Amino acid sequence: MRIFSGIQPTGRKHLGNYLGAIRQYVDSQERGEAILCIVDLHATTVAYEPAQLRERTLDTAAILLAAGLEPERCILFRQGDVAEHTELCWLLCSVTALGELNRMHQFRDKSAAQRELVSAGLLFYPVLQAADVLAYRAHEVPVGEDQREHLELMRDVAGRFNARYGEGLLVVPEHRIPTVAARVRDLQEPERKMSTTGGSEQGTLYVLDEPDAIERKFKRAVTDSGTEIVRALDKPGVTNLIEIAAAVRGVAPEAVEAELARARGYGDLKQAVSHAVVEGLAPVRERYVQLREDEAALEATLAAGAERARAIARETLADVREAMGVGPPRAR
Ligand code: TYM
Repeated sequence: MRIFSGIQPTGRKHLGNYLGAIRQYVDSQERGEAILCIVDLHATTVAYEPAQLRERTLDTAAILLAAGLEPERCILFRQGDVAEHTELCWLLCSVTALGELNRMHQFRDKSAAQRELVSAGLLFYPVLQAADVLAYRAHEVPVGEDQREHLELMRDVAGRFNARYGEGLLVVPEHRIPTVAARVRDLQEPERKMSTTGGSEQGTLYVLDEPDAIERKFKRAVTDSGTEIVRALDKPGVTNLIEIAAAVRGVAPEAVEAELARARGYGDLKQAVSHAVVEGLAPVRERYVQLREDEAALEATLAAGAERARAIARETLADVREAMGVGPPRAR
């Protein structure tokens, strides 16, 4: 089975990215042929600093390696190194409905947040994302809950492409969304998801936060009325903390609830989750510092990954161009 996922380049990866996605990437190395892409081209769809983009790509590569990706057991590469992604994006536009792109929630939210320019790139973001996955004919895409809509669009586009140009040309992929911590919430505003853009600094827990920052953020986390430590719809703050503790330790949320059944109050829950997260992230932070120092090694890892990725994507593009009548006929 081939598994593909993408992540935006920023050094400020948070606990939502880690529990919802990065840990699944690491597991995917056990489950199949894992391909992971740092999507620098997607990062150009909103205002950004060119000088920072490369730095952040390396930050992200170092975080992924520190979390457990092993270049011998997966393909880790940078999107901008494999031109097939942008070519396939354009070719997929022929079967993508403008109305669908306009309705995407992320497009609506992100375009509302732009002060100067709502770029066409923001509208086409999901088509490039579809191209990322479809270029590899991946079967499965591990993501957090917030990517569900993009995955549905990707499946529609792949299905329409096959119906128009030939059944079986592209693989229609399935998403893989974790059952716990698929949507980690902001610690200060548990009604909203934890996110690099839009969330509060105190409510966002970064993978690279020092233990004292982690402890402080959990201590100040917003909880709900009552004292019972159980997951419930009217307890978004408490539910979030229980799920975080469970996911980071790799146990069921019921187990965390049972352990804390006799706790004195939410203070105990905060302490338990803080302890679990400090322990879970410490090895990642320590490895990150070492890995991030050696930029040449990181670049070499990404370049080697791109080489292997290109070899796969090139085959798909040759089939797609042939089926679409683009370019000269393929030599037989
Ligand atoms: P990005 O970089 O915003 O997020 C990376 C992954 O983290 C997940 N995630 C969360 N999971 C749980 N709780 C949260 N609060 C939370 N916030 C983020 C996201 O669901 C994602 O899986 N569009 C993608 C990047 C992308 C991609 C792709 C993904 C580009 N091409 C192809 C899959 C396949 C994104 O913005 O990721």
